[in-house]
Amino acid sequence: MSKVLEKIISIRKPKSPISESYRGIRTSIEFSNLDKEMKVINVTSSMQGEGKSTVIANLAVNFANLEKKVLLLEGDLRNPSVHRMFNISNINGLTDILLKDKAFAECVHCTDVKNLHVLSCGAMPPNPSEILSSKKMKEFITSLREYYDYIFIDAPPIGIVTDAGIISTYSDGCVFVVGSKQCDIEMAKIAKKRLEDVGANIIGAVLNKFEAEGNGYNYYNYYYQHESGRKGRNKKKAAAL
Ligand SMILES: Nc1ncnc2c1ncn2[C@@H]1O[C@H](COP(=O)(O)OP(=O)(O)OP(=O)(O)O)[C@@H](O)[C@H]1O
Ligand SMILES: [Mg+2]
Repeated sequence: MSKVLEKIISIRKPKSPISESYRGIRTSIEFSNLDKEMKVINVTSSMQGEGKSTVIANLAVNFANLEKKVLLLEGDLRNPSVHRMFNISNINGLTDILLKDKAFAECVHCTDVKNLHVLSCGAMPPNPSEILSSKKMKEFITSLREYYDYIFIDAPPIGIVTDAGIISTYSDGCVFVVGSKQCDIEMAKIAKKRLEDVGANIIGAVLNKFEAEGNGYNYYNYYYQHESGRKGRNKKKAAAL
């Protein structure tokens, strides 16, 4: 296994409690798929560094493990990172397809994970919001829907720039990441309102970087904390959104 892929816990430790919770999120997304197509899913948060790219990369791996054709698409054109997570080149990517008419097949990368393709950012543009809101981008996503079962789009924090709201307008669902002990509740409320204002379908929130107290992070205390909320400062934060 490459050193880079070792960073993705769903690959490195598929039986760990954290990987198990990613499978739980995957199941929730699958269940939210009953009445409405849930094919294009993006991620955002209120602030930087709450774990959006980590969460979306792990979700992409988990869906690919179901023998689904999955694309992980870089939608953070200001601070792209998916190419680093999968150790692929960022020379040809989304912006090259949209601005330079490069062929998708020339830019997309296969990964060591079966069924998982990754499309990086490409040349970083001066006008990310304009590119993301362009007709060409929307048509591109429509064309990807025909080939992939799931398209996961990483996005910047909506508390800082509008890009995630734009991406949400052509996504079927949005996953909101909340960094434990990191997220400001008022910023999170503003972020949620911004998503609602553009009609985003927020399918759930992920409380990330949650650390169980005690000397181990085991299966039982993980679920205990979540289900009982006895030590629930973080749980209260998520519930207040
Ligand atoms: N559950 C976690 N436990 C510990 N560290 C984590 C966890 N999730 C993410 N991190 C770490 O936090 C940092 C930020 O994660 P990541 O890049 O996924 O966040 P982001 O929200 O995408 O950031 P940005 O807003 O800059 O795009 C990284 O160093 C990552 O390895
Ligand atoms: Mg990121």
